[in-house]
Amino acid sequence: MNVSLKKVDKSEVKLIFGWINEPLAREQSFHPKPISWEEHSTYWDSRLRDGRKHSFIISSGGEPVGLLRLDPVEGAYEVSILISEGHRGKGFATEALQAAVGLCKGLGIRKLVARVKPSNKASMKLFEACGFQPAYVLFERGA
Ligand SMILES: CC(C)(COP(=O)(O)OP(=O)(O)OC[C@H]1O[C@@H](n2cnc3c(N)ncnc32)[C@H](O)[C@@H]1OP(=O)(O)O)[C@@H](O)C(=O)NCCC(=O)NCCS
Repeated sequence: MNVSLKKVDKSEVKLIFGWINEPLAREQSFHPKPISWEEHSTYWDSRLRDGRKHSFIISSGGEPVGLLRLDPVEGAYEVSILISEGHRGKGFATEALQAAVGLCKGLGIRKLVARVKPSNKASMKLFEACGFQPAYVLFERGA
């Protein structure tokens, strides 16, 4: 295993701010608008105080390369993963997700879900490779 997961510390919120505003991260998010520092810091202040939410920095060789979050949703935890530009395509997300699955029992998590846009081919492959199966498809159109 080349990656490690470590709990996010307050001092890393600035680093994450750069990552979440990278173009691909915004494009693949369900809230694609750029995120302001104010919005980001308020979100993380609250997130880091909320014991039900888990946030991990993904590191490789001591270098932080991404973020993995686990958030309670109805009957499960939603996993969100982000690998920063320059570190993608090296298997880090696959290893980090496998490591997160390994932590679930200790965290009392029995089911994981992920929401992925169908255009997000890397993410579709990632979740399928880690044993996730499509549960349902949400269709939408303008009206
Ligand atoms: C999705 C994301 C996390 C994948 O991270 P990664 O470290 O590059 O992924 P991996 O290297 O572990 O590769 C995972 C799979 O995707 C494939 N893949 C990687 N980049 C790809 C690309 N640009 N296009 C198509 N497939 C790609 C890999 O080949 C691998 O599939 P394989 O096991 O069949 O070979 C990363 O692209 C990212 O941070 N994207 C922006 C945020 C996002 O979309 N998050 C997911 C929503 S929860």
